Amino acid sequence: MTYNELVEKALEARKFAYTPYSHHAVGAALLTEDDKVYTGCNIENAAYTPSNCAERTAIFKAVSEGVRKFKAIAIVGGPDNAEHLPICAPCGVCRQVINEFVDANTFDVVLGTDNPEETEVHKLAELLPLGFGPRNMSFLENY
Ligand code: THU
Repeated sequence: MTYNELVEKALEARKFAYTPYSHHAVGAALLTEDDKVYTGCNIENAAYTPSNCAERTAIFKAVSEGVRKFKAIAIVGGPDNAEHLPICAPCGVCRQVINEFVDANTFDVVLGTDNPEETEVHKLAELLPLGFGPRNMSFLENY
């Protein structure tokens, strides 16, 4: 699976985004270590704060099915009526949630648009420098 194919899956997932409040539709496609793909979209709520981002939808789908090893995530997002999509980088909360399950130095965050030539690839560590993660809590092993 190429990263542009992963972006295609994110674009497909974006079609299911439920965004009556922000009208900002996001799709994500999470590539597992054994080359399966879990997709997600953002799902908003009338009470606003219960809304879930596309990236977390994808991660939670995978983890809830016993899958915790990931190589990359593709993300696409923008106004739900946009003709051309801008680059949409993940929010801080999603960066943190991804960091729980991956090595930030090797995991790729693939930012796509509707134009494959615009695809950008970043390591999670670039987007979440000095991230707090499970290793910070490993002292618990001695308790
Ligand atoms: N959103 C995502 O799904 N992922 C991101 O990385 C950025 C923001 C959603 C949350 C909300 O439904 C809408 O986009 C506007 O913030």
